Amino acid sequence: MPTLKCPSCEQALRLSDNSWRCDNGHQFDRAKRGYTNLLLAQQRRSRSPGDDKAMVQARTSFLELGRYQPLADALLAHLPDEEPAWLDIGCGEGWYSDQFAQRLGAVNGVGVDISKFAVDAAAKRNKRVTWLVASGARLPLFDASQQRVFVLFTRLFVDDIARVLQPGGELMVVGTGETHLLPLREALYDDVRQSGFDAGKFLDNRFELLSSETLHCQWIPESEEELRNLLAMTPHHWRARPEAKAGIGTLAGKPMNGHFVIQRWRRVA
Ligand SMILES: C[S@@+](CC[C@H](N)C(=O)[O-])C[C@H]1O[C@@H](n2cnc3c(N)ncnc32)[C@H](O)[C@@H]1O
Ligand SMILES: [Zn+2]
Repeated sequence: MPTLKCPSCEQALRLSDNSWRCDNGHQFDRAKRGYTNLLLAQQRRSRSPGDDKAMVQARTSFLELGRYQPLADALLAHLPDEEPAWLDIGCGEGWYSDQFAQRLGAVNGVGVDISKFAVDAAAKRNKRVTWLVASGARLPLFDASQQRVFVLFTRLFVDDIARVLQPGGELMVVGTGETHLLPLREALYDDVRQSGFDAGKFLDNRFELLSSETLHCQWIPESEEELRNLLAMTPHHWRARPEAKAGIGTLAGKPMNGHFVIQRWRRVA
């Protein structure tokens, strides 16, 4: 079981009777579903920050089709059989974190997301991981407490990752490559922008690159519903014009492709 840091006073939080408590009397109850909200009201920029319920459900429906299993497998291929302490930042609804937990151990794992809808769904997937509603920018974890940190399709909060990752520990980052979902983007935009992900643009000399690889996968979306769920989990959901979004059903039955960039970085001592 990880030791968490009280978001109010930074003392250690310990779990007893379904509540996390510090010595200064701050208390955070674990919801029935099994997650804990450690996001203080003053840390919230909106009432419900992060992905909303519809986005979370769309992500779950799409991921459970297994289209992105090749990505999960590529990540698992790099993992040891267990890890004393690991953390998934922006864990979403936990589809990847649950697979990490099955390999690395669940009770020694923490999944953090700012969206309570996402964390609620993640807690449904796996009862033993410690799921927290918290910001990746202010992790409720102690310095150098983690051996491994995952950041998949989520902004990199470099300073807090550097703080919680122990020297020699590993950061695994996934972003999208230039051709990711190209047929979808061509259907949405007149002018498709090509920009590939590189965590090196954000990370500094506290990290050194261990490996960088690209992964391509292809599949045939079966239905308009699948394409709508896929769209709802990407930034194009917000960016594209409504008229363009209305037409994506025509992509059903035609090839779609994923292009991912997987990078492993070591926290330098
Ligand atoms: C594109 S989703 C990726 C989810 C998951 N990693 C996956 O690949 O399925 C990005 C996630 O980051 C979360 N998020 C956004 N801002 C955040 C923050 N400041 N701290 C933690 N999570 C955040 C969102 O709620 C959302 O679940
Ligand atoms: Zn406290």
